[in-house]
This record gives sequence, structure tokens and C-alpha cells, in this order.
Amino acid sequence: MSKAYAGETCVLAYSGGLDTSVAVAWLRETLGFEVVTCTGDLGATGDLEAVQRKAIASGAKKAIVQDAREVFVRYFVWPALQAGALYEDRYPLATALGRPLLAKLLVDAARAENARFVAHGCTGKGNDQVRFDLAVGALAPDLTVIAPMRGGMNMTRDEEIDYARRHGIPVEATKKSPYSVDENLWGRSIEAGVLEDPWDAPPRDVYHWTVDPDEAPAKPREVAIEFVEGVPATLDGARLDGVALIRSLNEIAGKHGVGRIDMVEDRLVGIKSREIYEAPAALVLHQAARALESLVLTKEVIRFKARVAQEYAELVYNGLWFSAHHQDLATYVRSTQRFVSGEVRVRFDRGAATVVGRRSPSSLYQTALATYGKGDAFDHKASEGFITVFGLPLRTQARTQVLWGEGSEAALEIPRKALSAPGAAKPGPNKATKRKR
Ligand code: ARG
Repeated sequence: MSKAYAGETCVLAYSGGLDTSVAVAWLRETLGFEVVTCTGDLGATGDLEAVQRKAIASGAKKAIVQDAREVFVRYFVWPALQAGALYEDRYPLATALGRPLLAKLLVDAARAENARFVAHGCTGKGNDQVRFDLAVGALAPDLTVIAPMRGGMNMTRDEEIDYARRHGIPVEATKKSPYSVDENLWGRSIEAGVLEDPWDAPPRDVYHWTVDPDEAPAKPREVAIEFVEGVPATLDGARLDGVALIRSLNEIAGKHGVGRIDMVEDRLVGIKSREIYEAPAALVLHQAARALESLVLTKEVIRFKARVAQEYAELVYNGLWFSAHHQDLATYVRSTQRFVSGEVRVRFDRGAATVVGRRSPSSLYQTALATYGKGDAFDHKASEGFITVFGLPLRTQARTQVLWGEGSEAALEIPRKALSAPGAAKPGPNKATKRKR
């Protein structure tokens, strides 16, 4: 390859890891780019200055770093929590929510640097490349995305280490994790290595945020979480900003062995993959938020919102954050949260998180209606008329069509002999066959 891009600037989404550090040098040496790196801390980057130094040491002409944790929580995590977005009913989408924000930072940096090119270090097999490419395409369709790990760079890990040494890139002496890990405030995503056999239980070293439930404290711990319009506001009575609340809940729940997910999921690129997640705060908050919703939302909204949640999770997973479809669903979700204010009590006990209480000033739960004790205000007599009308279609159909009993071909029909087996109570005469028609 000739130095096709000499004089051009390329802004690279930079994590500070080996892959993207090698990519800095490679983009410069092989393609001729001037490289600017862009790093957003979503809660797991650690020392931003060290990242900056490493980018420069790797050959970047400039290294942009920023703390994006608050923006991440406010504009990505909370809306997804309000939506109830869990991919394939389980994955709280930590990685998937982080990517569009990193892409947005990348586009902003490209604009500031007058660059026509952006790059990322994703491989050609995962979801993350899709999320970066689609987000950049939606925000800045004029930019060209370069993905060296998807083609061009083609280095094994050993070759990367070698390349790094030759280019003066600091290579950490610490042993590389045997897994591929992505981490932010909302969760830790772990894949590859021995996890690739879905029959094998994950080894201990997979988990960093949660203890084995067997080793969790014997004494359960309870927390109270207050929500204001679907957004977590206090933890055990202390008003915390989103970043602090999530961090603290990650720690408390993780200590009690809460937050592990082991699943086989369907990637957008068509493959099934075995994924381990640690997401203590995310799991607890999703559970608590739904518990509060069960008090304040109507039956219809709960039912319909669950469908929206699935659609929402799907679009986030598939990298369509910056789409009109998302804006429309988000508008619905936000509207549903008007009355989702109140408190939830959650108990952690050796790996289990259980909602044990909930209350809200907007609660639709009325003791006078629900009680079987004194003060019952429910009109029992009125049920008769209600059931007569509700059951009208059933009775009408039963008078004209054979649905149940002899003569019916229905799939659920109980065979006669199943009921007259020895020892079983004798069924009474079958009225359906005797009835005059
Ligand atoms: N499977 C998850 C997702 O698609 C996690 C991906 C983790 N990414 C990584 N580079 N390790 O969101």
C-alpha cells in the first residue's frame, strides 16, 4: 500500500490498549495519515493523562481525552433504563450504549480537527464495528471510516507486540487477559478464550466486579432506591449523581454476588456467541424500575411498553442509536415515565436480588380495593354483571360450535382414557354430547 493519505488527518477512537496503539503507528506509517486520537472515559478508562501520553508515544500528533461519564449516564444509560432495554431479555447493553457516544465524540473531534477520516479498532466480526460505522454515518455521512483491524493491519497479537516494540510503543508487562473485555460504568462484557465453549462454566478469573455467590456475605443486605420520573435519584436516602449512584450500587450488589449474566446471544452479523456480563447496578436498577412501574402504570401501558422495550433493545444493540426510530420510541418511553416516581426496596442475598417493597405517591394500588380484610371497598356483587358480559362470546360460541368434549378435534382436547385411568376419579357424564343441539 502506498502512502495514499499523506497530509490527511485521521481521528482514531483510542482506548489506550495494544490494538489501537498499534493502529496509531500503522495509520501513520502505512497510510501516511496524521493521527489524532480521541478517548472518552465512560467509567473504566482510569488515568486519562496516561492514555494521552501513550497515544503520543505511539505516534499521535494530538491526543484528545475527555471524561464522558456524566453524559453517558444522563443521555444513554438512563433513557435505556427507562425503556427497560435488555437485549434478548437479559443483556443491559453496556457496550452497545457506549459505542454511539464514543462515535459522537469521534465525529466532534473530526470536525474540530478538520479531518475527513475517522478510524476505530473494531474487528470485522463483532457488533461494535457496526455501531461505530452506523453512528458516524448518521451524524456525519461525509466522513470516511477506516477500520484497520477489519482489513489492512492483519496482525496477530505477537506481531502487534513486535510492531509496538519496534515503534517505541509502550507494551505493558502485565499478562494480557485471556478474554476480550469491554468495560464501562453500566457493565463489563467478557468474551472469547475458554468461554467459547458454551458448555463450560466460566472460570473464576472471568469475574472482576462480582464475588461468587457462595462467597458472598451470609447476611443479606437491603437497599432503598428512589426514582424521580424513572431516573434513579437516591440510594439509601443519599442523593447521588448518576455516576456515583451506579458506582456505589455496582459495589454493594457485586459484593453480594449479584450481577452476573451468562448467555448465548445473537450478534447482528449472524453468529451466536457466548457472552459473560457483569452488571450489578444495571440488573438491580432494571428490576427496581419495573417494580415501581408495576405500581404506577396501567395494565395496557405495562403490556405495550414491554414490546417497545424489546424493539428499543434491538435497535440499540444493532447500532441504530442515531435513528428516527429511536427518537420516536424515546418520546413514547419518556411520556410513560411521568408518574414513575417513588421508592423500591431491594434485598441482596448470595447472588439473588429481590424486590421486597415499593411505594409511590402516584401508586394505582389501592388497599381498599385489594384487601381481603376489613374496609373492602370492592363491589363484589358488581362482578356478576361484569362476568356475564365478559363471558358472553364464550357462551354464544359454546351453543353453536363443538369446541370441547366429544366430537371436538381441538389440539388441547383431553383424551377420554386419560381421565378414566385406574385410580383416577371417574369423570361425570359428558354434557356436551348429551346436550340437544
Ligand atoms: N456482545 C456484546 C455487545 O455486542 C459485548 C461486546 C464486547 N466488545 C468487546 N470489544 N469485547 O454489545
